[in-house]
Amino acid sequence: MSSRIAVVPGSFDPPTLGHLDVIRRAASLYDQLHVLVVHNPRKEAMLPIAQRQALLEQSIAESDIDTEVVVASWSVGLLVDYATDVGAGVLVKGIRSQVDVAYETPMAIVNRHLAHVETVFLLPDPAHALVSSSLVRQVASLGGDVTPYVPPAVARFLGTPASGL
Ligand code: PNS
Repeated sequence: MSSRIAVVPGSFDPPTLGHLDVIRRAASLYDQLHVLVVHNPRKEAMLPIAQRQALLEQSIAESDIDTEVVVASWSVGLLVDYATDVGAGVLVKGIRSQVDVAYETPMAIVNRHLAHVETVFLLPDPAHALVSSSLVRQVASLGGDVTPYVPPAVARFLGTPASGL
């Protein structure tokens, strides 16, 4: 039987507990995962791509995930080209709401047209349904505590909130 390989793409700026939850669920479904940090030109970045990659590697290493996970980055060309290059026939995306469905559906259809790459939508634990990287960026920039929203490695990197403010 051929191995089942999937790509989990995202901006991961920074990685959140919601991201890790989706990666964990995808890891239980596939033999190998490529977690891919993709440059999203529609978003102003907080962290350099290499930093996001390192935080994902640490977060996955410190989790209970035992599937083979490759963490990589992609900034030029089509996402499906990366998927095809590594032998992945599936992209996995986390879906928190109807807004995510509306945003992701056209991309899923185009990616299937472009390269016969399917998209699988996974629902995260509802505990993470309201967590987003943009929310974490905002809380962190205002000196708030992000530990309820991000893996421990990311919380350590972003630091503890300023006290007494
Ligand atoms: O975490 P994000 O910012 O919601 O991730 C979005 C991302 C990077 C996964 C999305 O923008 C994407 O799939 N980009 C791929 C770019 C591409 O290949 N476009 C052409 C066909 S849709």
